[in-house]
Amino acid sequence: MLENLAEIAAKALTLIEQAQDLKALEQIRVKFLGKKGEVTQILKKLGQLDVKKRPQAGAQVNQIKQELSQAIEARKLDLNAKEIKKQIEQESIDVSLPGRRGSTGRIHPITRTLERVTQFFNSMGFGVEEGPEIEDDYHNFTALNIAEHHPARAMHDTFYFDTHRLLRTHTSPVQIRTMTQASPPFRFICPGKVYRCDSDLTHTPMFHQVEGLWVDKKVSFSNLKGLLVSFLNFFFEQNLNVRFRPSYFPFTEPSAEVDVTCVHCQGQGCRVCSGSGWLEVLGCGMVHPTVFKYCNINAQHYRGLAFGLGIERFAMLRYGVNDLRLFFENDLDFLGQF
Ligand code: DAH
Repeated sequence: MLENLAEIAAKALTLIEQAQDLKALEQIRVKFLGKKGEVTQILKKLGQLDVKKRPQAGAQVNQIKQELSQAIEARKLDLNAKEIKKQIEQESIDVSLPGRRGSTGRIHPITRTLERVTQFFNSMGFGVEEGPEIEDDYHNFTALNIAEHHPARAMHDTFYFDTHRLLRTHTSPVQIRTMTQASPPFRFICPGKVYRCDSDLTHTPMFHQVEGLWVDKKVSFSNLKGLLVSFLNFFFEQNLNVRFRPSYFPFTEPSAEVDVTCVHCQGQGCRVCSGSGWLEVLGCGMVHPTVFKYCNINAQHYRGLAFGLGIERFAMLRYGVNDLRLFFENDLDFLGQF
């Protein structure tokens, strides 16, 4: 029974030495020292031996058992150390590598332009008024002196909900709402979204406008000119030539359109200004007496100046963007440039 003990021990020691990981080592322990292990089996069979031979044989088997246990423990320490070393190597952090940056959001160019326009008019004492985007026929047209069959209604490609409700086609209705609620003098701008049934390179169904109104006893067309020239020089940060061209709007009389020297070619004539050297940027005029009447303001005592501008156009000119749709596609590469 004991004859192959030495052989078993030698075999076990070699296997222990060769074990490559803790799992393999545990299997070896079970194979030799486990309940049904080879060494344990021998121990169990000691009872069959002659009584006199038993103590010596027992001591021998126990010694082997102890030796193997020690060898296993020693190997276990080795393997543990090896495994920890490997783990540390794999998890190593190179503190000299650059960190990963979170990306910060930016202010959208349209918002930026709106803020810049608002900043100027605030500095000139204008407050900010807002109105609903879902308007009615009365505020969007009638009270602005655009009667029911007036051809000017056809100039606006309106989104109608029903015969009376519509998406506002300009920010001018906020004039009416504010003038009806408060009494003059007042000075305010109305920034906001407007809608027209139109879509191509230079038109989107939704865009932004800023309307401006200044009503007081002595407001004149020269105030209008001074205000808008200062604004345009502030906005484009250059001393541009500005020209007021007679025009027509139902809600102002007289009315004008305002052109500036082309900011791209400085008036030489280029693709942006279609060779004319001028860019149209604003509509303006003196508030029409009929509009005052709709708002219960005495046109004998009060004068008003009004203007309206498109934010996208100002943003395109300031940032040199030639396709309006870029502003609304949410392309982060495009937006990241501002
Ligand atoms: N509401 C006009 C439009 O959408 C813009 C405009 C022109 C507003 C002249 C005004 C103005 O207040 O005086 O085309």
